Amino acid sequence: MFRFGCDYYPEQWSQWLAEGEARWEEDARLMAEAGFNTVRLAEFAWALLEPEPDRFDFTWLDRAIHLLHSHGLDVVLGTPTPAPPPWLLAAHPDITQVTAAGRRLAPGTRREACANHPVYQERSQAVVTAMARHYAETPGVIGWQTDNEFGCHDSARCYCPHCQATFRRWLEERYGDLDALNRAWGTSFWGEIYRTWDEIPVPALSAAERNPGHLLDFYRFSSWSWQRFHQAQIETLRRLCPGHFVTHNLMGFFPELNYYELSRGLDFVAWDNYHYHGATPGMVAATHIHMRGILERNFWVMEQQAGQINWSVTNPATPPNFVRLKTYQAMGHGADGVLYFRWRQALAGSEQYHSGLLDHAGRPTQGLEEARQIGQELQRLAPLLEGTEPTARIAILLDYESRWALQIQPHNQLLRTDHPPDFRLENPALAVDREDELEDQFLTGGAFEAWPFLAPAIALWEANVPMAIVSPEADLSRYDLVCAPFLNLVRPAVAENLAAFVEGGGALILGPRTGVKDSANRLFSQPQPGPLAALTGATVAFFDSLEPDRRNELRWEPHVNRMGRETAVGLWAEVLEPAGAEVLASYTQGWYAGRAAVTRQEHGPGQVIYVGCMGGPRLYHTLFEWLLPALDIRPLLISVPGVEICARTGPDGRRLIFVLNHTRHPQILALSAPKVDLLTGQHFTQNLPLQPGDVRVLQVAAERA
Ligand code: GAL
Repeated sequence: MFRFGCDYYPEQWSQWLAEGEARWEEDARLMAEAGFNTVRLAEFAWALLEPEPDRFDFTWLDRAIHLLHSHGLDVVLGTPTPAPPPWLLAAHPDITQVTAAGRRLAPGTRREACANHPVYQERSQAVVTAMARHYAETPGVIGWQTDNEFGCHDSARCYCPHCQATFRRWLEERYGDLDALNRAWGTSFWGEIYRTWDEIPVPALSAAERNPGHLLDFYRFSSWSWQRFHQAQIETLRRLCPGHFVTHNLMGFFPELNYYELSRGLDFVAWDNYHYHGATPGMVAATHIHMRGILERNFWVMEQQAGQINWSVTNPATPPNFVRLKTYQAMGHGADGVLYFRWRQALAGSEQYHSGLLDHAGRPTQGLEEARQIGQELQRLAPLLEGTEPTARIAILLDYESRWALQIQPHNQLLRTDHPPDFRLENPALAVDREDELEDQFLTGGAFEAWPFLAPAIALWEANVPMAIVSPEADLSRYDLVCAPFLNLVRPAVAENLAAFVEGGGALILGPRTGVKDSANRLFSQPQPGPLAALTGATVAFFDSLEPDRRNELRWEPHVNRMGRETAVGLWAEVLEPAGAEVLASYTQGWYAGRAAVTRQEHGPGQVIYVGCMGGPRLYHTLFEWLLPALDIRPLLISVPGVEICARTGPDGRRLIFVLNHTRHPQILALSAPKVDLLTGQHFTQNLPLQPGDVRVLQVAAERA
């Protein structure tokens, strides 16, 4: 069943509206009328659910759930641990986190608590246990969202004494003895040799740059701390509510928690889809694909932006069709549920300027109008979505430890691996050649596509070729092409996984800065790409890190690009030394003109292409135009720029194709065969017209899929 609905805070109306709880009935009626079937509740309501230590009051929540259920609405309950109640923080002021600068955060908002504080852990377990016991059999309750956005508000890493002590124990367990730790971190550099575990600090603010091994372990430890906190909740909910699902709302490309590990034990992941400044359609598509790849199964959007947000640079109004387009985009990439944030705009509290489906005065917004339309369309579409999921023959690898290693030592400050940068503000180097295309997209910005990691993903997205984004430890045998754009740190298991993939006949593309670091965040003692050198048949002789106004260019060998197209290179250029590999492209500028930039090594039916430079999506377009036909990988449909095509396929091969017009102009798509739009029932023979922001869903029978 497709889950469609909103995030609802009935407890707020009791305090803020004269009519109080009496308003709930009208809310539920309007939700049901919009075609909603699911509502998320209570993720910040700890202070209301446990007004005093160990005195639980579920009466108001019982009434809300009962009322919603009587209108046909099921409930996802949030465990309220992101917002510990004032009585708890007052009794234990050291629950709040300490920043890297050594400042303790003040209590009184949300997400201020430290994952390693024993009392916070204990009280969290108590409230989760009480809720789980109370709601295990409640009609209408279908599942749980654990906490809310772990790591949000810069809360992934804490430097308090509890973290300090836990970090030391964690290290002891990981290394066993101090010699091993000293060797792994290379502490003879700057004479940091540790003689007791108690000498090891949390890597808080310091005079000079920190040891990269120390930092990487602290990043791992911080991620593990939230994972441990999370697992405790998952286990409690599983034990007490075996009939319910458990999920968590992730934050897309958030860099500080290892989502593969954080999400272990969930039934599916959810994420919160906000179109902050610069989040272009391609970036949002890549985020859906990334979220789906975390557990390699369909996901939910637990918070879908339904209008203006309150926390971006300028917070523009969203144009007509925004909500409908974003909802179908999520669906097309494998969302089995979409809930809008939030039902009604808040009258009080820090998010007053954040829109809702109803505005502050209770009037329906454009977002609600569009949700209602989707509610109608789902009557026909939802049954067809059952059992379908996106499929792909290409996987892009995203590795958290590689991101952390690059974050710790980016070497080129413009090369960002934490949050995708807004290139207009921060990274002019890559802005120039894509500006025109991005102009035509709904939200101004477009910055995020310059985030180097995303270059191949955006190139595939623009070509309507489906891809997955998965862990380098995933089972790669189901893919024909695997692309690792930034596998900076190579663990032995990853090297083995890649070698097995290539030996099995797979095509592997490795991007720049691959195979530089070992698991301890030290340089390999062999030439780059370290343990992957045998696969690549080439090594990196040296690299150049380019200033924003300095470019190089690639000249492709004629068999790759007959047109002799040249590709611009910025930020990073590695000069490659082939040792058996053929050269696919060379630099044309400067003192290393003529030397290799892209190489290819065959391994029986398998092959490895090493791309030693950054060129944005255009570079990958050139490569894919040559490589994909050879692998017999084709686009879902040919479209015009800004018209996205994505698809879900059923076990019987039946395929639903989503056509999404992200441009501000009417567009026409040429059809190779007649098609029916499942949303309207209209038949089209040759041309499929699309209004600005329009969506069509086409069904293709099994044999044509
Ligand atoms: C999310 C958060 C919500 C709300 C929303 C506003 O990050 O989960 O509680 O704050 O942002 O856009």
